Amino acid sequence: MRIAIIGFGAVGQGLARALADTDMGFVITAVADSRSACISADGLVLSEVLARKEETGLCGDREIGIADILSSGAFDILVEVSPTNADTGEPALSTIRSALGMGKHVVTSNKGPIACAYHELKALADEKGVMLGYEATVAGAVPIVSGLRQGLAGNAIRSLHGILNGTCNYILTRMRDEGLTYPQALQEARDLGYAEADPTYDVKGIDAAIKLVILANTVLGMDIGLSDVGITGIDSITLEALSLAEAEGATIRLIGEILPEKNQVRVSPRVISLDHPLVVDGTLNAISVCCDLAGPVTFIGKGAGPYPTASAILADLNFIRDAYDRGA
Ligand SMILES: NC(=O)c1ccc[n+]([C@@H]2O[C@H](COP(=O)([O-])OP(=O)(O)OC[C@H]3O[C@@H](n4cnc5c(N)ncnc54)[C@H](OP(=O)(O)O)[C@@H]3O)[C@@H](O)[C@H]2O)c1
Repeated sequence: MRIAIIGFGAVGQGLARALADTDMGFVITAVADSRSACISADGLVLSEVLARKEETGLCGDREIGIADILSSGAFDILVEVSPTNADTGEPALSTIRSALGMGKHVVTSNKGPIACAYHELKALADEKGVMLGYEATVAGAVPIVSGLRQGLAGNAIRSLHGILNGTCNYILTRMRDEGLTYPQALQEARDLGYAEADPTYDVKGIDAAIKLVILANTVLGMDIGLSDVGITGIDSITLEALSLAEAEGATIRLIGEILPEKNQVRVSPRVISLDHPLVVDGTLNAISVCCDLAGPVTFIGKGAGPYPTASAILADLNFIRDAYDRGA
């Protein structure tokens, strides 16, 4: 199947490298970044596109852009991996809407469009008989969407608790393990590239809350917005609070919580026993669900990074290809 990649940063390039190293039957026919694009109906030479991006900062020609990729129609699946805009989902939301409207499948790692407009986009995809994949929007490589939708199909999910932001988990891990203050641990996370220059979305709990909105709306049958989530971040956690928790055989972690039956969604620092499965180290993500039939199930894995995120995108691409092969 033919793929167009919109956004050619860490994730887009990670996906291109992963695809170049394997033969899964996908051909990349178009790539766009913020200032350029390239299209070849027969398939791009990925090593050339990657080298051009590295040397010039552009993946292609300045004269062409996303509109040209869309109007070319030279793709079966649009992979949208441009930056997240949690307020409006744009401009990615419009791009995804256009592709679905053209009867093209869409796979994305971009939380904005899915958090802002999942129900609308899913209805459009269903109307057009195409698929919308978004596994990579929550918890990176961890297959939480397919795990809940397919792996635990038939279960009622009573509760979901998760470590959904690797940056916060790294900061709290380092405060506990090394006695670093919050500003010191945040600076270390920045130096290592885990935290953005502006870490507000992460440390205020907003990124985790957006992921809860996606899970609530897409796999737990809810219909909520970001304003329905109670949000408290980790920026006022002190070493004293961590010491008090430690004395009780516990620690503090930023926990996202969904209680579907109570329609309750919140993210906040919580005291949690050190032997709880959600106490994972560093930038790992973890999600525990309580199911009526399966009981408790915990997923743990890498929540970010080019290849872990590409892994989730590839899972969606393979799912679509297999369904397409079966004539779905
Ligand atoms: N990085 C991760 O580990 C991770 C994990 C899960 C989800 N995500 C999500 O995946 C998406 C991509 O993340 P990333 O880390 O790859 O970001 P990134 O490194 O900042 O790359 C973003 C890419 O999108 C391009 N871009 C910016 N505005 C655009 C526009 N209007 N139209 C087309 N392309 C545009 C940028 O162009 P230039 O190259 O010209 O600047 C760049 O190539 C984000 O939504 C992010 O939240 C990332």
